[in-house]
Amino acid sequence: MGKEQFYQDVINGLCSRQKYLLSKYFYDAEGDLLFQKIMGCEDYYPTRCEMEILTEQTQNIVCSVLGRDEKVDILELGPGDATKSIHLIRKMDQHGELGSYIPIDISPHIIKLLKEKFQKEFPHLSFYGISGEYFNELPNAISHSENRKVILLLGGNACNYQPETTLNMLKKLNGIMKKGDMALIGFDLKKDPRIIRAAYFDRDGFTSRFNLNLLSRINRELGGDFVIENFTHYACYDPQTGACKSFLISESDQEVFIRDERISFGKGEPVFMEISQKYDLHTIAHIAEESGFVQKDVFTDRKNYFSDVLWQKA
Ligand code: AVI
Repeated sequence: MGKEQFYQDVINGLCSRQKYLLSKYFYDAEGDLLFQKIMGCEDYYPTRCEMEILTEQTQNIVCSVLGRDEKVDILELGPGDATKSIHLIRKMDQHGELGSYIPIDISPHIIKLLKEKFQKEFPHLSFYGISGEYFNELPNAISHSENRKVILLLGGNACNYQPETTLNMLKKLNGIMKKGDMALIGFDLKKDPRIIRAAYFDRDGFTSRFNLNLLSRINRELGGDFVIENFTHYACYDPQTGACKSFLISESDQEVFIRDERISFGKGEPVFMEISQKYDLHTIAHIAEESGFVQKDVFTDRKNYFSDVLWQKA
């Protein structure tokens, strides 16, 4: 992703009437590290819950995915360090039915790490890593795949959009898949609102550092002069809509320069940073249908906090 695009997106967001920054820019090397810390912290339950699904129900998931005597390719959108998907990959590899692994991640750093990791553990497997935005890069990924495809969109990555956008993306995903291809998609579920809010306002302060790191990144890469201490992280969850939103709040009236662009912030003014939408299983089944998929299976953890749903293109 080019620096000019980053600059334009930042200026567009901060010059809007309701200021915002795009959460895809969280993930520079520092952001990747902080996200790892979030995933390991006590308050952030999604990673633990999804890990439980993928480690304790691996055989069931793989049986639902395979079911025929043919090779499949895994295309993973936003794999992170693949600590979750590796369980499925190992099992499918043991069945001798895995063709290629094709990860797409916004972070080139992640793709490089994955390449090393896969060359060590699966030297026989064909690996083709792509750094970029999922949906822009999917046609490229598909052109490197010869077998039936299983697209992994784990970790709740599909939930970091407004619900209408997620639906449109899933329709688009369906449009580029072939009949018989599958998608395993992670959706975080509605639950006690206090548990959700705590996950995005963790007591260790990792989510706060993660959000503030985007201001530091703007300083580092775009010559901004944000005083980081003048902003604080705030997160809220609306149990009716299922929207969990995070903001950075300006602690004073202040001006910030990014190159020669002057941006004013009022005391208490929010900058919208990210949505993490929560769903119920009924709505998820409806989204599957609306976007042209047949829901084959639903896997949830023991507490019913998180779900990985297996959809097939009809
Ligand atoms: C990447 N994504 C699924 C995370 C989430 O839970 O929405 C991003 C995140 N932001 C703050 N904490 C985690």
